[in-house]
Amino acid sequence: MLDKIKELVDKVQQYHADSKESLEQFRLKYLSKKGEIGQLFDEFRTVPAEMKKQLGAEINKLKQLAQQKYDDAVSALENSVSDDSKHDLTRPGEPFEIGTRHPISIVKNEIVDIFSRIGFTVAEGPEVEDDWHVFSAMNFAAEHPARDMQDTFFVEKKSMEPDPHDILLRTHTSSVQSRIMEKRQPPIRMIFPGRVFRNEAISARAHCIFHQVEGLYVAENVSFADLKQTLLYFAKEMFGNDTKIRLRPSYFPFTEPSAEMDVSCSICGGKGCNICKGTGWLEILGCGMVDPNVLKNCGIDSEKYTGFAFGMGVERIAMLKYQVRDLRLYFENDIRFLKQFKSAY
Ligand code: PHE
Repeated sequence: MLDKIKELVDKVQQYHADSKESLEQFRLKYLSKKGEIGQLFDEFRTVPAEMKKQLGAEINKLKQLAQQKYDDAVSALENSVSDDSKHDLTRPGEPFEIGTRHPISIVKNEIVDIFSRIGFTVAEGPEVEDDWHVFSAMNFAAEHPARDMQDTFFVEKKSMEPDPHDILLRTHTSSVQSRIMEKRQPPIRMIFPGRVFRNEAISARAHCIFHQVEGLYVAENVSFADLKQTLLYFAKEMFGNDTKIRLRPSYFPFTEPSAEMDVSCSICGGKGCNICKGTGWLEILGCGMVDPNVLKNCGIDSEKYTGFAFGMGVERIAMLKYQVRDLRLYFENDIRFLKQFKSAY
């Protein structure tokens, strides 16, 4: 019997598992109840008592060896990757397309960044607004043409007459001025980026949806000089250090005095080209000193505080920056157009 055990130990030791099938054969042959080792245990019962100790130990060693061999082979087979040789593990991965930011977002983020460097914080307001915040609080007379159905998309109109409770799509981000001033007292130094809506026929130069960034600074002793200096800083950061600005008198119901700002044409350097229509100047925003009526409407002491405000069109600035001639391109989401814009913003 000892010989038989030795023979089996040799066989088990030499065994090499090369597949699941051969390992299963191994298990049946040695480890199952009716296998070779099982049979040894059966025979063991008939062995004379004085040999039991030695033989028992040997059979147990054999059994442990076979079990160990089996367990090792199972885990080795599980861990081995089949057909390794067919895969080139040094190949680079599939490229992962991450897309690009929309040019309007890039320009908006850049405007926000420029103003945040001089202490302006950002707020947003609702796109669906009431008449009060868009028009009435902003000092629009009842008969002001901007309230007209032609310009404004109404959601809920109480009557033919203007009503502060009418619900509409905001036509400018100046509505966020009144929302903010109702809620907090000066000093206020903020910008409000957002989407605005006007009932206009869509063309290369006009769209019914566009984006604005509004600025508002209200504190003690804020002057027109502060406004001018702030806007000059912005123009230089946005269009380059050589940029000049020009303020032309204008009118807005919510500012007094009001102005429109032109920047020197960054494309021809002010000499005159077809972008600036030969004038050397490009109009980019409206601005002015916050009308005292607006401060009063929003619960701010107009004797103590003064402020300036400005509002610019993001599409307009993006057009100048990227020389995109047709506004509609910004809304069509043609990937061939969108993927041309790569930026840190
Ligand atoms: N809200 C004005 C517009 O949409 C722009 C503006 C904002 C003008 C703030 C003056 C002050 O045209």
